[in-house]
Amino acid sequence: MNTNRQWLLAKRPHGVVNKENFDYAEKPIPEPGEGEVLVRNLYLSFDPTQRGWMEDRESYLPPVQLGEPMRAGSVGQVTESNHPEFAKGDLVQTTGGWQDFVIAAPGQGPMGLSKVPDRISPEMMMSVLGITGLTAYWGLLDLGEPRAGETVLVSGAAGATGSVAGQIAKIKGCRVVGIAGGSEKCQWLKDELGFDDVIDYKNENVDERISETCPHKVDVFFDNVGGDILEAALNHINMKARVVLCGGISAYNATEPVPGPVNLMNLVIMRARMEGFIVIDYMDRSEIAVEELLGWIMSGELKYQIDLQEGFENIPDTLNRLFTGKNLGKQLLKIADPV
Ligand SMILES: NC(=O)c1ccc[n+]([C@@H]2O[C@H](COP(=O)([O-])OP(=O)(O)OC[C@H]3O[C@@H](n4cnc5c(N)ncnc54)[C@H](OP(=O)(O)O)[C@@H]3O)[C@@H](O)[C@H]2O)c1
Repeated sequence: MNTNRQWLLAKRPHGVVNKENFDYAEKPIPEPGEGEVLVRNLYLSFDPTQRGWMEDRESYLPPVQLGEPMRAGSVGQVTESNHPEFAKGDLVQTTGGWQDFVIAAPGQGPMGLSKVPDRISPEMMMSVLGITGLTAYWGLLDLGEPRAGETVLVSGAAGATGSVAGQIAKIKGCRVVGIAGGSEKCQWLKDELGFDDVIDYKNENVDERISETCPHKVDVFFDNVGGDILEAALNHINMKARVVLCGGISAYNATEPVPGPVNLMNLVIMRARMEGFIVIDYMDRSEIAVEELLGWIMSGELKYQIDLQEGFENIPDTLNRLFTGKNLGKQLLKIADPV
C-alpha cells in the first residue's frame, strides 16, 4: 500500500449523516517527524459523539474542520518510529481518524499515543477497557454512587456504555432495569447479561413500564438517551436519587432545538441530583478502572459485546448504525490486519 485512503469531512450535517457529508481521497503516506511515529490504523471506533464533532460549535473538543479526515479513536500498528518508546510493530491506541495512516505522538491529539498492553486485545482496549467501559465505570460509580439493594435504571442499555454500566450495577448488588430498542436486545440483556428486568422503548410505554419494573422507584438513572426517556425516568425517581447524564443520543440528529423534560421540579421534590460528565476528565485515573474492569472480566462477572464491521468503504455508513440501533454492543470497524 503506498497511498493513504481517507474519508474527509466535506459538508456539515443537518439531521442524519450520510455519505454526502464525506469525500473520499487518496493522499501520500505522511512521514513522521522527530518524536513521532507513523501508525497504520487497524480498527476504528464509532461513537455517537462523532456526530457532535461534525458540527461547527463549541464543545469539549474543537470541531472537525471541513477537508480534514473525520476524527475517530483507533488501534493501529506502528510502521515507522522516531520515538524511543515505540518500535515498529507495536500495537497502539490513538486518534487515527478515518484514514489508513496517521502521524501520532504521546500527548498529541485527544487520545495521545499509548501501547496496547500484551494481555489486552485491541477489541477490549476499544470497548470495555476503553472509552465506553471507562465512561460506564466512572459515570456509574463516581456520579451514580450505587448502593447494594438500590434500583438502577439504564437507558441505551444494550449499547457499549449502557451494557457495561448495567452489569457494574449488578456487581454492586443493585436491582438493574435496562431500557433498549426491540425484543432481541431486551432478551439479550436478561438472558446473557443478567439484567433483572427490561423495557423495550420501541414497543412499550416507558413510563408505565418503569412503574412496573421499579416497584421501589429509581435510585440511580444512568441516561444515554435524554428526551422522552429522561422525562419518563424523572417521574419515578426516589428520594436522593442520582441522575447521571452520560449522553442524549435521541437528540443528536435533531434539526430543531429539543424541549427539555417538563418535570425537572421532581428533582427538587425528591431532593435528587442530576449531573453530567465527560470521561476525559477521568483519564488520569484510568488505570484504577481498567484493573477493576479486567478483574470482573476474568472472574466472568462482566461480559462485553463487540459489533465488528469491516471494509474501508463501509466507514461512513457504519456511523449511522449507532443512530438506527443496528449495533449490539461496541461498534468497531476493521480496516486492516496486523502484520
Ligand atoms: N459522557 C461521556 O463522556 C460519554 C462517553 C462515551 C459515550 N457517551 C454517550 O453514551 C451514549 C452511548 O454511547 P455508546 O458509544 O455506548 O453507543 P451505543 O450505546 O453502543 O450505541 C448507541 C445506541 O443508542 C441507541 N439509540 C440511538 N438512537 C436512539 C434514540 N433516538 N432513542 C433511544 N435510543 C437510541 C441505540 O440503541 P437501541 O437499539 O436500544 O435504540 C444504539 O445502539 C451516547 O449518548 C454517548 O454520547 C458519553
